[in-house]
Amino acid sequence: MKENQKELTPSIFRLKETNSTNVYLHELLERGEASEGTLVVADYQTAGKGQVGNKWESDAGKNLLFSIMLEPDFLPANRQFLISQITALSVKKTYDNYIGDVSIKWPNDIYYQEKKICGMLIENELSGMNLNASIIGIGMNVNQEEFRSDAPNPVSLFQITGKEYDREELLKHFLEYFFYYYNSLINGEEEMIRTAYRKALYRGTGYNLYKDKNGQFEAELFDIEPTGHLILKLHDGTKCRYAFKEVSFVH
Ligand code: BTN
Repeated sequence: MKENQKELTPSIFRLKETNSTNVYLHELLERGEASEGTLVVADYQTAGKGQVGNKWESDAGKNLLFSIMLEPDFLPANRQFLISQITALSVKKTYDNYIGDVSIKWPNDIYYQEKKICGMLIENELSGMNLNASIIGIGMNVNQEEFRSDAPNPVSLFQITGKEYDREELLKHFLEYFFYYYNSLINGEEEMIRTAYRKALYRGTGYNLYKDKNGQFEAELFDIEPTGHLILKLHDGTKCRYAFKEVSFVH
């Protein structure tokens, strides 16, 4: 056992319905009613938030929708991507208990083959140069039979295997991995986390098609910087550096 283990026993808020678990947790935080490890789980969200202002689709009682708060005050703001990395790894490892072919699509979508099985929305609050609070919202597709929104390529565990799953069991797995990785981070094991993340990446090897503001091109995934920037390497060896949304994978 390492010297700096945090024993996080989450205080859990279980809700039948809320607008968004991220919003609910923000409100708890503002009222001083949340501490590190506070967890909000909902059966249904009336206004589930996706990335870049999108809505997150989930039928009532079908999927695992939750937000958890960390207070990583030891983490400089320019290394906040580590929170994304430990979260993505924990989700991937959770799904690995049930299916193969799960990968992390940079920066933090979770994919089954060519389809998105989980999304996360991480909202960080800074205090000076460090992180003050991190609200980590996760939508894991579990038992949904059909997706109706215009999201490009969603998939659930049920659609993959034809079986229904116990959402509580998935949550339990997630929390075990998540606190393991969070404690590793507290203990300075950043390289282990970065290596595990790099290994788990979607299209992590070989040349693949990408698209940026200048059009389509072939490149191989070279590295992910500690800031979270993606480094692609072209056939002639040139390296290109991208922030989130500056480049996309071509399917
Ligand atoms: C994405 O667009 O990929 C991010 C989706 C994040 C959805 C989850 S569901 C639980 C939590 N509460 C929200 O309102 N959003 C996140």
